Amino acid sequence: MVATKKDILSLLDFSREEITSVLESASDLKKNRLKSDPKAFKDRTGVMIFEKPSLRTRITFETAINELGGHPINLSGETIGMGKRESVEDVARNLERWVHLIIARTFSHRTVELLARSSRIPVINALTDKFHPCQALAFALTLYENIGESRNVKVVFVGDSNNVCNSIMGLCAKVGYDFTVVCPPSYAPKDDIMKPCLEAAAETGSRIVVTHDLLGAIKDATALYTDVWTSMGQEGETEKRKRDFTGYQLNEKVLSLAPSGVLVSHCLPAHRGEEITSEVLDSEHSIAFDEAENRLHVQKAIILHLFS
Ligand code: CP
Repeated sequence: MVATKKDILSLLDFSREEITSVLESASDLKKNRLKSDPKAFKDRTGVMIFEKPSLRTRITFETAINELGGHPINLSGETIGMGKRESVEDVARNLERWVHLIIARTFSHRTVELLARSSRIPVINALTDKFHPCQALAFALTLYENIGESRNVKVVFVGDSNNVCNSIMGLCAKVGYDFTVVCPPSYAPKDDIMKPCLEAAAETGSRIVVTHDLLGAIKDATALYTDVWTSMGQEGETEKRKRDFTGYQLNEKVLSLAPSGVLVSHCLPAHRGEEITSEVLDSEHSIAFDEAENRLHVQKAIILHLFS
């Protein structure tokens, strides 16, 4: 067990300095991949619990743990029956006796909070209904690789104010980037997310805006971001959401109205032809697959941050 337990549940719990430190570490790890990985997690075991499907998160965490000299164990939510076969708290109390780290993708954010509260080992949020901090950090690293130290940054998220939107908003608020979310009126970020983001933004000078004016928002954007209109667990709303998000697609027409050097990203998987067209996702503006690559390096840095 680490001397002082830390968890990664939301970037809103991070200081600007911690975010910068993780990103610098991730950048170094990327440059030196497989050459001189630190040994802080060597011979330790990380258990990964997935209540939802995953490609990127599962592969990058498993690879990260392997490359850091540790051992990953992958478990589906069904295998454990968390909250059904056994309480979340008791799952945590068992896991802490055997392994050193819990990585959890859960439907409810409350579940990762319970895991963190009930165990003496670190817990990493690998996506909940509220936040996806690892994705936001991978975006931050990818943005940094493209724009460097620039402080004059405006990120525009187009689409549903979901877990990825919340985490990127939190990231921008913490590091001082301007952030605008463009969404239909009934899909704006919830007050319990807006409030801490606005408080963080007041400290860093970040300007947080919620609007329905897509063209007004993108004309001075540094980066455009989008995600699927229907997140995992909301499948029953798919048709309604397709109707509600008409006009919120990142396509070539929208791109032509943004600055010529604008970057475009997506957390993936993408629903091509819905929230983003293939022409945009595969264009020279797109950093989505670089961001997917950076999940590996950022998550290695997160693990080392927890075990340093
Ligand atoms: N972006 C992301 O978390 O991908 P997966 O759902 O495939 O893990």
